[in-house]
Amino acid sequence: MDTAALATPDVAKPNRIDRLSSGVVELKNQGSGRYLPYQPHPYIFEPPMKIPFSPPFITDQVFQHVQEVLESGWITTGPKSRALEQEFTAYTEGQASIAVNSWSSGAILALKWLGIQLGDEVIIPAYTYAATALSVLHAGATPVMCDSGDDFCLDPKKLSALITERTKAIIPVDFGGLPADYSAIRAEVEAAADEFEPTSRIQEKFGRIAILTDAAHSLGARWNGLSAAMGGDITIYSTHAVKNLTTAEGGMIVLNLPPWFEVELEEKWFTLHRLNGQTKDAFAKSKAGGWRYDIVTDGMKMNMPDICAAIGLGQIATYPSALRRRREIFERYESGLDHAFFRMPVSQLDTRQSSYHLFAVRLHPEWVAQRDEIIDFAAAQDVAVNVHFIPLPELTLFKELGYSSSSVPQAVSMSNSEISLPIYPQMTNEMADRVIEVMNQAARATKKVSRADRPARSRKTVPNSIQPSVQSRISK
Ligand SMILES: Cc1ncc(COP(=O)(O)O)c(C=O)c1O
Repeated sequence: MDTAALATPDVAKPNRIDRLSSGVVELKNQGSGRYLPYQPHPYIFEPPMKIPFSPPFITDQVFQHVQEVLESGWITTGPKSRALEQEFTAYTEGQASIAVNSWSSGAILALKWLGIQLGDEVIIPAYTYAATALSVLHAGATPVMCDSGDDFCLDPKKLSALITERTKAIIPVDFGGLPADYSAIRAEVEAAADEFEPTSRIQEKFGRIAILTDAAHSLGARWNGLSAAMGGDITIYSTHAVKNLTTAEGGMIVLNLPPWFEVELEEKWFTLHRLNGQTKDAFAKSKAGGWRYDIVTDGMKMNMPDICAAIGLGQIATYPSALRRRREIFERYESGLDHAFFRMPVSQLDTRQSSYHLFAVRLHPEWVAQRDEIIDFAAAQDVAVNVHFIPLPELTLFKELGYSSSSVPQAVSMSNSEISLPIYPQMTNEMADRVIEVMNQAARATKKVSRADRPARSRKTVPNSIQPSVQSRISK
């Protein structure tokens, strides 16, 4: 044993940094109560602020709900999951909500309910996360990719050219929290209703193409003065860890069916099919004498456990104020970022109001080539930024399936110029200002001389002695 090390005074493992009133920083050692002088390191006086991209917003309410579940003796689907469903129905103004274990499973379930199968087509934007397309592939159907408008969402003007007699559903994505243009999408769906050919009982009831919204980003978004969930027939939220409201992993299906549907009946279909087609959930079965159950259909295992729902319940309790804070950060970015480089995202368009999930800036065309360098610069300054999204046809799976990015030029150009900045309610003004500072610095530091910025060329600037070959290149 190294006895010398044992004899060394308490210099090892400092566990606290105390700033004394004199401004001197001292390290307080574990348990000893003795203080050692500390030579301040510049990083301790001016720490590089590490800004993560999207940490979960964990509040006292979250802790309370999770603790309740842990102490209740019941951690999988039960009262908390039902309570979260009720909260979602109230908050989104929907008819009913069904909690599932991801957006993806919610979409797979909704497509199954709609009777989507091999040979059917479902229109989705190319500018989305892969899950939107994968849900359609899992149903055995073909995702038909639509290009985006300038708002990042599916461009309704491109729909009529894509709709065929095989089109059974459209999945618009509320990109970054901004609702898709439901008024225009609904008009296209109505216009195509005469040619609609239903192949299932539910499709017959619709009598038109169904609108299943990908609202992974848009909890709290508004459309026409209503919740954006009123834009589609079924709206599916993601409550994945990075979303505005999280349950770690999870999703919520919210119904907004036409009046001739029996909502209770359809809701039952969903609750049955999300849990193995079992007539009773595990909570009901666990009650004394409640053991008997039946399996009545080929359901799937997609239920949301109470331990996850508890996180969501804690979050929804403070959601409106969290959304307000997101908006404040959004507006702070809008006023602080250098508009010479960055084009601001829209948070409000006609009757559409965002949920401020992403702050998706775009670089002006002359700076697009620097996008990746700007991201690297920000990363070196401990500011985590992201890109939403890589258009689906640029991903291997979809390339191999024969999709081509040339059919979605707007999506490709938007993706190449996009950078998503961190935005979340627990972000302080200081953190937001740091992001602004770093992004502006990044843009300036990586700025290459663009055509517009190049000094006017004149023969006088070319020395007479220069090689003729170089001269010819310069004067070109
Ligand atoms: C637009 C969009 N759709 C769907 C999903 C998938 O959500 P989940 O992970 O809950 O299945 C995501 C997740 O990032 C998303 O961004």
